[in-house]
Amino acid sequence: FASTASAAVVEQTFYVQNLTVSRLCNRQVITAVNGSLPGPEIRVREGDTLIVHVFNKSPYDLTVHWHGVFQKLSCWADGPNMITQCPIRPGNKYTYNFRITGQEGTLWWHAHVSWLRATVYGALVIRPRSGRSYPFPKPHREVPILLGEWWNANVIDVERQAVATGVAPNLSDAYTINGRPGDLYPCSQNHTYKLRVETGKTYLLRIVNAALNNQLFYKIAKHKLRVVAVDAAYTKPYVTDVVVIAPGQTVDVLLAADQRVGSFFMAATPYASAAGVQFDNTTTRGVVVYDGTPSSATPVMPDLPAFNDTPTAHKFFSNLTGLKGGPNWVEVPRKVDHKMFVTIGLGLEACPANTTCLGPNGARLSASMNNQSFALPTTVSMLQALFSNLGGVYTTDFPAKPPIQFDYTNATSVGNNPTLFFAPKVTKVTKLKFNSTVEMILQNTAILGVENHPMHIHGFNFHVLAQGFGNYNPATDRKKFNLVDPQMRNTIGVPVGGWAVIRFTANNPGVWIMHCHLDVHLGWGLATAFVVENGPTPATTLPPPPADLPKC
Ligand code: C2O
Repeated sequence: FASTASAAVVEQTFYVQNLTVSRLCNRQVITAVNGSLPGPEIRVREGDTLIVHVFNKSPYDLTVHWHGVFQKLSCWADGPNMITQCPIRPGNKYTYNFRITGQEGTLWWHAHVSWLRATVYGALVIRPRSGRSYPFPKPHREVPILLGEWWNANVIDVERQAVATGVAPNLSDAYTINGRPGDLYPCSQNHTYKLRVETGKTYLLRIVNAALNNQLFYKIAKHKLRVVAVDAAYTKPYVTDVVVIAPGQTVDVLLAADQRVGSFFMAATPYASAAGVQFDNTTTRGVVVYDGTPSSATPVMPDLPAFNDTPTAHKFFSNLTGLKGGPNWVEVPRKVDHKMFVTIGLGLEACPANTTCLGPNGARLSASMNNQSFALPTTVSMLQALFSNLGGVYTTDFPAKPPIQFDYTNATSVGNNPTLFFAPKVTKVTKLKFNSTVEMILQNTAILGVENHPMHIHGFNFHVLAQGFGNYNPATDRKKFNLVDPQMRNTIGVPVGGWAVIRFTANNPGVWIMHCHLDVHLGWGLATAFVVENGPTPATTLPPPPADLPKC
């Protein structure tokens, strides 16, 4: 009878500590939550309050980020290290307390400091309030599919090494499905994810790309997948045989078990758009087994796209549209208050004294937005600085345009502008009035290589108005904007050698980082932040920090 939408309080405890696991013929010490990899799945309903007590029993500084959660008036719970909080030191705890409103679907949580998220992550599933339903037939079961990346090494060492010497980090050793590499890797026969299905039933797969540095193709042999949501925003149903998913993104698909018996591999393999860049070119697979299938049956393997199949990736990314008028649908803002044109790409940093740098020309690799390479503050978090009016932590002069115009996608043209290689290390933000709107043209550059960069913003979803290849051309590309039913996302893969245009409304006071979700690029500075001012009323004002907010 309970059709009244009553919201609940969901409470969880995370014990974060070291754990020894066996993978790929190795014993490896990892940092994990509650002794499991992936960590616990959290299930809430839209409107619920989530309270997570995080005890850091690991030897590392820790923060936890609730990837994609809007955090309306709860920026203190967002979690990125030195942006909204100082880290939870070993032996300490912090309670994240926030309400989840205006979004349904699949999100996830992960550590937001160093590379700890390689093993500190899990699904965050937001179902409709009780009495409300999905905008599609109710699935028989809901199944999180967390795609991950695995190193036979301590990931913090891998990251430190890459940042210090300024070269690309050691490649990962495997991809994983729900923590399991699958039988194509050594010693992994028993570490293969298995999904049992019944003929005639429909399953909602909640796919998350939790890999650190690779976009992935995901397929199930002989089955079509019906996309119904991305990044916890419903889409118009879109039928495909391959899902393309960038780190940070989620894709919800309906899998109709329409075969009689048999077993079918699901597999994920990298979409590595970079030319000439090394990457872990292996394949993880799990198996979908129909009830009644003899155990002797050989599973069918799907045909996977080639690692550089940009047409397939682009088709998937650009064909999705939002579910206009559906639950939590938001219209595209028509009036734009801030227009930004932002280049994103790699660069170099001069080698600091007494350091051995192994990057090009004796320098270190770096990354930037509009030629500003983002440096995290070291003494106090940016949000604390905003709240307490402390100067000297960041400046509000992030440029709305790149310093010079050039042929962004042409490496030769870039080579003629060597100053573009060296972006200053700065902490520059864009200040926004409450409820102002932003349009951002994100333009990839060819400086030191071309890649698809998954750009992620905290605190908001944006509409993806258009995306394409080459240099963004205002005269012709503006005509391609979808202002009617564009997909809403928190992470957009800006096409390799191309651009994407997004819009959002700054309706949430606080400090919100925007960054490339390839962890190696984040470490090199491919980030900026927005400082959104309080609105005019108490209901639009960020409350003071919780008493247990970690101190620096
Ligand atoms: Cu999923 Cu700033 O991160």
